[in-house]
Amino acid sequence: MSASAYADYNPLDPAVRENPYPWYTYLRDEAPVKFIESLGAWAVSRHEDVRKLLLDHAQFSSDPLIRIAFGDFNPAPDARYLLSSDPPDHTRLRTLVNKAFSRRYILELRDEIAATAARLLSDLDGRDEYDFIAEFAAPLPVTVVGNILGVEPSMHAAFRRWSNNVTAGGNADALSEQQRAVIRSDANDFREYFLARINTVRKKPEDNLISALVHAEETGQKLSADEVLALSVLLLIAGNETTTNLLSNAMVTLAQFGDEEKLARSERSLIPALIDESLRFQSPVQLLFRRATANTEIAGQKLPQDAIVMPIFASANRDERAFSTPERVDIRRTDLRNQLAFGWGIHLCLGKALANLEGEVALNALFDRYARVEINTPQIEWCDAFYLRGPKNLPVRVHRA
Ligand code: HEM
Repeated sequence: MSASAYADYNPLDPAVRENPYPWYTYLRDEAPVKFIESLGAWAVSRHEDVRKLLLDHAQFSSDPLIRIAFGDFNPAPDARYLLSSDPPDHTRLRTLVNKAFSRRYILELRDEIAATAARLLSDLDGRDEYDFIAEFAAPLPVTVVGNILGVEPSMHAAFRRWSNNVTAGGNADALSEQQRAVIRSDANDFREYFLARINTVRKKPEDNLISALVHAEETGQKLSADEVLALSVLLLIAGNETTTNLLSNAMVTLAQFGDEEKLARSERSLIPALIDESLRFQSPVQLLFRRATANTEIAGQKLPQDAIVMPIFASANRDERAFSTPERVDIRRTDLRNQLAFGWGIHLCLGKALANLEGEVALNALFDRYARVEINTPQIEWCDAFYLRGPKNLPVRVHRA
């Protein structure tokens, strides 16, 4: 197909969701800042521009994000969310949550994550064919985040359902009245459950993140119950489907680039680089949004105040101006530090260390147990959410080591 066949980029088009990368190449080369009618937003596709935009939180506010993600189904409508706040609120919230979610605390979770991964795989011991997502890539992160937050294991399945339904609410136009009623009731359950937990740990502290958030204090300031609710909801949602997609996208990538898998299997210290490279190549969060706080410009394109701007992380991550041979997966590449799958600047993913650890532990567990994980479908169906990327399901056939 000629390059101009990709001139009409529309992320809502199923053909784009199937394989967005030729459209991204067109945008970077021909229209690096382009207005996208279907979303009413300006797509920003080059690495340099995406990075600058993410660093400039004064001119580009994060305030549209929660409305876009939840639509009318926000479980904590009265609270400021970390993800969609700007300084000084963002600074206050991030300082408090950083205290409770420190890198040291995350690294201590390695054994617990390894035990969860081993249990999930042991439960599959009699089976050579299964859905990698339903059996492994989805339950692993929900169990990990559920345990971190201090949610009873019996609630984890309900959690996953809630978080999937509440995020599907962001695409409200596509929903029937009945679906809307279910999502509204789920958002309400979410809210009631967390507020009750917050109340309990306020009276009697526990050894979990909800309790740490309730009791975290910075220069005399604490988080309100609504802010703890918003953070709990955000951690659950931000850490769930993204990490599921990290794991399943890594499987798809390895099936395509077998030599890189061989290399990582023979040199396990390369697994973190393999995770990073897979995140660059198939970024689970493809794009997000910002709002221009004043008349401004990006790469010479003038933008009016309140323009909605859409940094495409996944396009930046395939930009030949920032990465050599970006269409190739190369776990020894030296330019990986440029990858933007976790964002950049003040909103850099809070769960980066956790997601990387889950990925590393999961791949080690899979490599230990299986000599090969074969993708058992001729055609992968990609998820419907236009800003995320990951298979809807992933049938695999495993070959034991
Ligand atoms: C591979 C998995 C993940 C990917 C690709 C990912 C991606 C991202 C991206 C791109 C952002 C930046 C948003 C922006 O600039 O507007 C972000 C922020 C965030 N992520 Fe993640 N994430 C992942 C896993 C997690 C996990 C496991 C958690 C926690 C359990 C988490 C929690 C958050 C939070 C709380 C923010 C907001 C930070 C802020 O606004 O200061 N993420 N993530």
